[in-house]
Amino acid sequence: MKIGILTSGGDCPGLNAVIRGFAKYVFNEIKDAELIGISDGYLGLINKDVKKMKPSDFSGILNVGGTILGTSRQPFKSMTDEDRNGQSKLDMMKKNYNALGLDLLVTLGGAGTHKTAALLSSVGLNVIGIPKTIDNDIYGTDVTFGFHTAVDIATECIDRIHTTAASHGRTMLIEIMGNKVGWLTLYAGIAGGADIILLPEIPYDPDAVVKTVEKRIENGRAFNIIAIAEGAMSIEESKMKKQERLEYRGGRATGTEKLAQYIEEKAGVETRTVVPGHLQRGGSPSPYDRLLSTEMGSYAGRLAKEGKHGVTVALRGTEITYNALADIAGKMKFVPTDHQLLGVARSIGISFGDGR
Ligand code: F6P
Repeated sequence: MKIGILTSGGDCPGLNAVIRGFAKYVFNEIKDAELIGISDGYLGLINKDVKKMKPSDFSGILNVGGTILGTSRQPFKSMTDEDRNGQSKLDMMKKNYNALGLDLLVTLGGAGTHKTAALLSSVGLNVIGIPKTIDNDIYGTDVTFGFHTAVDIATECIDRIHTTAASHGRTMLIEIMGNKVGWLTLYAGIAGGADIILLPEIPYDPDAVVKTVEKRIENGRAFNIIAIAEGAMSIEESKMKKQERLEYRGGRATGTEKLAQYIEEKAGVETRTVVPGHLQRGGSPSPYDRLLSTEMGSYAGRLAKEGKHGVTVALRGTEITYNALADIAGKMKFVPTDHQLLGVARSIGISFGDGR
């Protein structure tokens, strides 16, 4: 069996652990297995930039961050655009899959990667997906690999900000990754003891945020920790189109700085912003993610052995299972506004900036 494997979209801790888990299963369990590493995501399949991998290529990478295969973002919407010769990226990928004699393509990626995987599957390629992303936003799986490591990192950032915020009596906004969903901000916010958590799913009222800050100060707590997702928006901003919002924010992609200025002016407190950014995606996966990645990688190997394709690996409860690509592609897993953790957070006095 000849299998191509690629990693696509933003990287995250655990990619190499999944690649290793899959490769070890395949070399142990499938007779005459051949593994072809495809460089830089779908780009490598479009350009036929591939290399035959040997078992030793997968040693020593369990705890290494990033991806040994390289990655890139290839927007789904451009996959079917035709070039001057009437060829689309989809055509090229199909052509190269056949030219390489692949029996299966394994794609490690996020929501966009899964949309393309479903498209490839619909045109006859045998594809197995594995859900990666620090955002934890892939539909149909309780957890994506990489998420919990990012929670650990973001929580540590909040912890470190806590001590300096307390020393100076400042209000600090920590901008956590997640431009569409707030899972990472919610988990790290609660774990880091944030006072206010702002998520894309719950547009905030800046005056309600100011009120919470003022109330805490009145109650003798001189500092405030605000965990704000990249994609968090005020109620006003949530009604705007992307371009209008960008202008309203003075050209900044996120609303963090604007909110910080508003708090400083209205509440009269020293306010600072911190953006850990890509630190949240770098470095070694946590033990939890090493386990989950190994489980997901080896499970994908089992699916390959059983001849199953058109599916993506998932975790439901404590069980590793799979979903049909066609069922999950194009859907997103948002934080439900009645999620249990929101109730827990509210019950211990955490505000979501919505005046409740
Ligand atoms: O998809 C994961 C993610 O980390 C988002 O949370 C973030 O907004 C985005 O990627 C940034 O990615 P990049 O800067 O690599 O394009």
